[in-house]
Amino acid sequence: MVTKGALAAILVLCWALTAQGHLVQVRERQRVKVVGVKQTDDWWKTAVFYQIYPRSFMDGDGDGVGDLQGVKAKLQYLKDIGITGAWLSPIFKSPGVDQGYDISDYYTVDAIFGGNAALKKVLTEAKKIGLKIILDFVPNHTSDQNDWFKLSSNGTKGYEDYYVWHEGKTNGTGQKVPPNNWVSVFKGSSWSWHDQRKMFYLHQFAPQQPDLNYANPKVMEEMKKVLTYWLDMGVDGFRVDAVPYLMEDKRLRNDPLAPGRKYDLNDPDCVQRIYTKDIDETFEVVYAIRSHVDEYTRKRKLATRVLMSEAYADPDKTMRYYGTSDGKKLGAHFTFNFNLLTMLPNKDFKVKDIVKAINTWMNNMPKIYTPNWVLGNHDNHRAATRLGSENVDAFNALTAFLPGIMVTYNGEEIGMTDGQVTCEQGQDPVATKDCSTYNETSRDFERTPMQWDDSTNAGFTTNEKPWLPVAENYKEINVKKEKASQSSHLSIYKALLQFRKEHLKPSKKDKLAVVEQPTKVLKVYRENDQGNYTLLYNIADSPVKVDLTKQKLILTTKPSDQRKAGSILEDITLEPHESVILKSA
Ligand code: GLC
Ligand code: CA
Repeated sequence: MVTKGALAAILVLCWALTAQGHLVQVRERQRVKVVGVKQTDDWWKTAVFYQIYPRSFMDGDGDGVGDLQGVKAKLQYLKDIGITGAWLSPIFKSPGVDQGYDISDYYTVDAIFGGNAALKKVLTEAKKIGLKIILDFVPNHTSDQNDWFKLSSNGTKGYEDYYVWHEGKTNGTGQKVPPNNWVSVFKGSSWSWHDQRKMFYLHQFAPQQPDLNYANPKVMEEMKKVLTYWLDMGVDGFRVDAVPYLMEDKRLRNDPLAPGRKYDLNDPDCVQRIYTKDIDETFEVVYAIRSHVDEYTRKRKLATRVLMSEAYADPDKTMRYYGTSDGKKLGAHFTFNFNLLTMLPNKDFKVKDIVKAINTWMNNMPKIYTPNWVLGNHDNHRAATRLGSENVDAFNALTAFLPGIMVTYNGEEIGMTDGQVTCEQGQDPVATKDCSTYNETSRDFERTPMQWDDSTNAGFTTNEKPWLPVAENYKEINVKKEKASQSSHLSIYKALLQFRKEHLKPSKKDKLAVVEQPTKVLKVYRENDQGNYTLLYNIADSPVKVDLTKQKLILTTKPSDQRKAGSILEDITLEPHESVILKSA
């Protein structure tokens, strides 16, 4: 336990050094990193963003697919649990090859979701109750059914270079082959032959998702128009999809093989994507998107419209999506922090893995930017499945407690697990391509419908057949049941957001330290204008006693008669997998 004196010493030292922009390392049984994370009060900096996967959230018209009528009906639920903004996976017109990440018309909300009128109603309602709405913006690729691609494929003047075309090479037997070795993220070559244009086109994802050509300034102009259109309709920002893939090497150099791998088109990880991912020019595209959005709000004197970018990349590259370290060029307001997903892939995690996941972000992020914490999304197994249902509350507590922005995937607040889906029922294009690897590759499991109650199909749809099957455990895990219990995942989640709102207000000073102490206990220490707070989390299957210097118990993930909020403690015996939040008394 840190004594008050030691703590004071740590803080004095830390203030001295953070003033010069350095991280501080303090010896205190183990090395503790204390970092400063100053916050101003712009709305997004302490937001709780809730990702809605519209197909699976709520079906309003009974066709088995979630839609915007459904979203509108549930906005009050989000408001009630303390969410401040929702981001919606794509709702635009799409053949649905990649569930909307293949857009055929950027200006139209797909009829399946209720069309543009339904979105307007969502925006009006959200504004009324004080919720922000963020749309998914997919700049890297369109659908092959998009008019731009049709015009480009038939060589219509002005559209020839909207996409990345190449005549290919001729092999020994006189056949046309792709110009290089680039491998699609969704397996296979990144190049497909187009019969009409008689050329290859580039697609970093599915063949039905041709990559736009950002070397052509007209493409950027088109995309700015798209952004303006939705900004005019009143959205509060965009989640920007798959940014690392925006541009590729002009010289089309081969990506080198990954160490120890042999070239295999069925193995997207067989190459190191140094020429197809996170290349220098790509960051400039993200910065241009930011300039456009900032200019929009500046001219109209509007509140910030936020940009959140999606990039699974090395720490140094990831950070460049925020902007340059001196802030002279700005990118996304924040780029998703996937460390809690990628660095904690399963239940075997240790405290030191959590410490590392947090510190890797904090130590790499330039101090002018705002951290964020993502626990789940539609591309990764659910937290309850990955980390164990017994740990869900503690991880919700952690993401609520850490400085900056909290991001929750729909259903994580009730501890939903992955559902059961067979390859035949599956919808994920990468996975259904090859049923023999479906279980390893499918993202359908984390996309099963939201569990609202214990009625047929969990209250998600009145249709007999939801687009993906409802998880079998819906009678136990659902919003209705959890609302009725004080100790449910949902009630704890709600209490966590309430704690955040009351105690973690934007603050001029904000210090963070993360450490394992004692063994098997994660300790996160925060100091802000409102006081000194400590989160403890026992990852073990057995109780652990922790000594304290006079702490007031604010919140526990295992409420019981013995655990009374408000009690002053000199020590605490943490239950297995329990997390508590304390305030220095
Ligand atoms: C992003 C999306 C993912 C999609 C891919 C291609 O990674 O999150 O669902 O398949 O982009 O658009
Ligand atoms: Ca529907």
